[in-house]
Amino acid sequence: MLMRRAVRTVAAALLLGLSRGECPNYSSHSQQQHEPLSAGAYALSYMRPDPACRTFNSSGVEDIIARLKGEIFDPDLNRLFENTFPNTLDTAIKWRGVAANNTAEELCFVITGDINAMWIRDSADQIAPYKPAMTNATDDIASLFRGVINMQARYLVISPYCNAFHPPPESGMNPDINTHPYQVTPPYDKKIVFTCNFELDDFAAFLQVGHDYYNATGDVDFFGKFQWIYAIQSIMSASKALKQPTYGPDGEWVKPEYTFQSETFTASGTLGNHGIGNPVNYTGLIRSPFRPSDDAATYDFSIPANMMMAVYLESNANIMERLPNAPAGLTQEMRDMAAEIREAVKTWGTVKAPNGKRVFAYEVDGYGGQNLMDDANVPSLLSAPFLGYLDKSDEIYQNTRSLILSRSNPFWCQGPVISGIGSPHVQPGATWPMSNIIRIMTTDDDVEIKTNIKMVLSSTAGLGLIHESINSFDEKRWSRQW
Ligand SMILES: *[C@@H]1O[C@H](CO)[C@@H](O)[C@H](O)[C@H]1NC(C)=O
Ligand SMILES: *[C@@H]1O[C@H](CO)[C@@H](O)[C@H](O)[C@H]1NC(C)=O
Ligand SMILES: *[C@@H]1O[C@H](CO)[C@@H](O)[C@H](O)[C@H]1NC(C)=O
Ligand SMILES: *[C@@H]1O[C@H](CO)[C@@H](O)[C@H](O)[C@H]1NC(C)=O
Ligand SMILES: *[C@@H]1O[C@H](CO)[C@@H](O)[C@H](O)[C@H]1NC(C)=O
Ligand SMILES: *[C@@H]1O[C@H](CO)[C@@H](O)[C@H](O)[C@H]1NC(C)=O
Repeated sequence: MLMRRAVRTVAAALLLGLSRGECPNYSSHSQQQHEPLSAGAYALSYMRPDPACRTFNSSGVEDIIARLKGEIFDPDLNRLFENTFPNTLDTAIKWRGVAANNTAEELCFVITGDINAMWIRDSADQIAPYKPAMTNATDDIASLFRGVINMQARYLVISPYCNAFHPPPESGMNPDINTHPYQVTPPYDKKIVFTCNFELDDFAAFLQVGHDYYNATGDVDFFGKFQWIYAIQSIMSASKALKQPTYGPDGEWVKPEYTFQSETFTASGTLGNHGIGNPVNYTGLIRSPFRPSDDAATYDFSIPANMMMAVYLESNANIMERLPNAPAGLTQEMRDMAAEIREAVKTWGTVKAPNGKRVFAYEVDGYGGQNLMDDANVPSLLSAPFLGYLDKSDEIYQNTRSLILSRSNPFWCQGPVISGIGSPHVQPGATWPMSNIIRIMTTDDDVEIKTNIKMVLSSTAGLGLIHESINSFDEKRWSRQW
């Protein structure tokens, strides 16, 4: 799930397939078809790099691919799985090593596809599909998860409000220093931070990786050893600051801890009100000035990001309570924050839609301001059951689902190529296949499942990779090849 800024087109740079005479540059490699093509109607390209060029080898993941060869009978669907499932391991594990001051502390730097930086949310989602390949703490994939948790923990201790980071000094890699003009408080170190858009789902993503690792391996000791507890403290303290309302008890404006301004062509690339965003009332929800697409929010209380936060605060509290070195009261604080969010989602996050039904709003401000829409990027309203916040039979969820999967959602896209939810991150009319996939994962309706698999499968322009977005009327106009 890559959701970064630059929009690439097929026309752009079918440059040399090779860099430094060794392994292909995957950005250009993935814009051309490679033999053997799949034997089905869509003749999809083979897109895995040569074994020698893959960035991580996992026997567990190869076993899953081999097993599914015998279980996915459609040759095109099989090819799409074979290309996409190992893609993070094949292309994005840029560096692995140990901390300079503790050789037991594994580190792993996962790039966001085509940018040499690690996003907290993206790296969590990039490795999440490998959870089934992890059965205990000695697996190769378990080491990868520990490396990502330790890396993210270090970043979140240093700059909890930032969302993308440079390689660690231990890697010896040079950071691509971001020289774009930003004015951000609190200030950050440009040698460590790539961008500093605060997005609440980054906190939830860090908690998600910890949950996945613990759930698969049962290895609780790991969490007490390195910087995980400090990262949780850092997250809790920033979350408390981000619950604060715009005005104090006597009506006076209170400067928020986090502000962000940027020179940009897009309204969503900076925060309004001189970097502050729109005012918020106290609700118990946590602000998310930016969305999971890295676009500025309309109203700062993102309901899906708060849902995700509640779920993973609860599950990580179950880890914290098992640690002998947990700071007193921290487990309870995590549980209390989760409970307050759940209550606030009920009070502030459910609203009456124009059709008279109760639905979840995408964003609210605690003044009655409500944004009725959904964005394809996860966490989304569509993904609420996938996140584990509620059961898909929940009545308010079903009302919401009907609304956001229809033209009542301003970001619904439809056309002969693919129909689904889009995102203000790109132009209107471009469906994000991520929404079709989440749709599949939140229904038991076979017709809905088959229709959406077919749309994802038939809209890759023969490349056999899943694009970020696709023009719903023209398969050849997409953003991001993989
Ligand atoms: C890889 O190819 C893309 C174009 O497809 C280009 O923009 C990028 O600079 C190339 N990267 C390297 C390291 O050569
Ligand atoms: C993965 O395995 C191949 C051999 O199959 C090897 O050439 C390559 O260096 C390995 N990659 C890593 C990151 O170890
Ligand atoms: C190790 O270094 C990291 C920064 O790279 C720092 O945050 C951490 O506190 C250090 N740990 C110890 C035990 O000194
Ligand atoms: C861990 O899982 C691997 C299979 O992935 C297995 O070979 C190994 O015996 C397991 N180790 C323990 C301690 O259970
Ligand atoms: C992992 O999750 C499953 C399903 O929710 C649960 O049954 C199991 O007890 C969990 N394992 C651990 C170690 O928490
Ligand atoms: C602002 O929040 C407070 C406390 O949650 C609530 O009592 C008040 O009604 C809210 N104001 C508006 C305009 O909704």
